Formats: sequence, C-alpha cells, structure tokens
Amino acid sequence: MPTNFHFLLFIIIILLPDSIFLKISLASEGESLVSDWRPIKNLSDTKVVDVGKFAVARQNFEAKSRLFFDELVYGEMKSRTGTDYNLTIAARDDGNTDDDNEPRNYVAIVSDRQFQDFMHLVSFRGPV
Ligand SMILES: *[C@@H]1O[C@H](CO)[C@@H](O)[C@H](O)[C@H]1NC(C)=O
Ligand SMILES: *[C@@H]1O[C@H](CO)[C@@H](O)[C@H](O)[C@H]1NC(C)=O
Repeated sequence: MPTNFHFLLFIIIILLPDSIFLKISLASEGESLVSDWRPIKNLSDTKVVDVGKFAVARQNFEAKSRLFFDELVYGEMKSRTGTDYNLTIAARDDGNTDDDNEPRNYVAIVSDRQFQDFMHLVSFRGPV
C-alpha cells in the first residue's frame, strides 16, 4: 500500500498547478513571502492619485519637507486584508534651489486599511 500511496501523491503533485502549493505555503506562513504586486494600469485613477498625494503630504509633515506632487510615474498594488501601494511619484522639491526645478522621482509605500478608515505611509524615499 505505501508504494501506491506515494505514486498517487506523485501524480497529484505533478498535476496540481504551482499556485495551489503557493497558496498553501502562504496560508501557513501567514504573511506573503512571494511578491504578488500587480502593476496599476490607470495611473490617472483618482483613488490612486489621492494615495500618491497623501504620501507626499504625509512625508512633508513627517520630514518637514516641501514636496509638491506632480504626477504618478509608476505604481503597483497588492490586496491582502487591505490594499498596499508602491508608487513612484514625480514631485518638485520647493527646497531645491536648482535653476531648473524639475520634478524628481520618489518611491512611496502606502498601506490602506479601508475598513479601519486608515491610510499609512510605510516608507518614502528619494529622489531615486
Ligand atoms: C483612468 O482614470 C481616469 C480618472 O478616473 C478616467 O477619466 C480615465 O478614463 C481612465 N482611463 C482608462 C484607460 O481607463
Ligand atoms: C517599489 O517599486 C520600486 C520601483 O519599481 C522598486 O524599486 C521597489 O523595490 C518596490 N518596493 C517594494 C516594497 O516592492
């Protein structure tokens, strides 16, 4: 019987898509180890733009900086208990005394827990 059992297990492993094992291992880990970030297709989406503006405003508050949101350059999101955003934001730095104060890119991670009405700036770095 053990031989048949192992053969059966072997067949199951061969036939199941990887994603099922991924989900099982993620469920046991509790937290996602594998990146499940998805690119945001519409960077003009008002919700996503608002998240970007929030990140800049929050950063200005925390770092006493004077960045001005210009536009979103790139964005990814992933959903778990809420939604996490990884946004590349073009912003002008009012403290930058260069003649051509061109927007530069900053990378912000924001976590949004809508059920708690709670948005949190996880990290903000740049210019990159
Ligand atoms: C992207 O979002 C903006 C603002 O919500 C909307 O006006 C526009 O039609 C959207 N574009 C696409 C391609 O869905
Ligand atoms: C966020 O996106 C930037 C730019 O694509 C990337 O360099 C960075 O590793 C990403 N951060 C996370 C936490 O995924």
